[in-house]
Amino acid sequence: GSWYDADIDRVIISEEQIREKTEELAKQVAADYADAEGGILLVCVLKGAVMFMADFARALGRQGPPCEMEFMAVSSYGSGTTSSGVVRILKDLDSDISGRHVVIVEDIVDSGLTLSWLMRYLKSRAPESVEVVALFRKPEAVKVPVPTKYVGFDIPSEFVVGYGLDFAERYRELPYVGVLKPEVYARS
Ligand code: PRP
Ligand code: MN
Ligand code: MG
Repeated sequence: GSWYDADIDRVIISEEQIREKTEELAKQVAADYADAEGGILLVCVLKGAVMFMADFARALGRQGPPCEMEFMAVSSYGSGTTSSGVVRILKDLDSDISGRHVVIVEDIVDSGLTLSWLMRYLKSRAPESVEVVALFRKPEAVKVPVPTKYVGFDIPSEFVVGYGLDFAERYRELPYVGVLKPEVYARS
């Protein structure tokens, strides 16, 4: 087991479920973009989406058109457990996305704040298209007017960690997604 297992109340999405869902999402995206001029430009939203980006890109590479990778770092949460409402760019795109088919790769849509901001930001750079693939979505996000075209799992509104999702920068390396025991965030 992992160093962190004792901090986890229960696993809600297993490693195996993540693997299967990632293949499924990649298959959908590969089909939808089969004829996309210039292939796909994946934009990973650091840091949370790092695990999903790596696995999703490999899955896409087995079935889809070629892709390129860009990385942006934005932060709305800082080290707390709730959104501060402020999105900051910590790392911007390295290349011009105009005329490209952009797919934003996110780990989770919660309030939708990060994504709605990012959509607006990327659309202002004249891409050919912008869609979103998010592995997880919380119930709150359903109210957000951001169309997340590809969603892996709808998960309960609890504090979850693992597979990129952190609490105070920790737990990202867990291969599964689990609910953090309340006493863990109560003591910090
Ligand atoms: C988390 C998560 C999403 C975002 C979702 O990132 O990875 O990017 O919050 O929340 P929202 O829908 O309410 O905006 P965070 O800001 O914690 O940064 P991180 O990815 O570096 O952990
Ligand atoms: Mn994030
Ligand atoms: Mg975070």
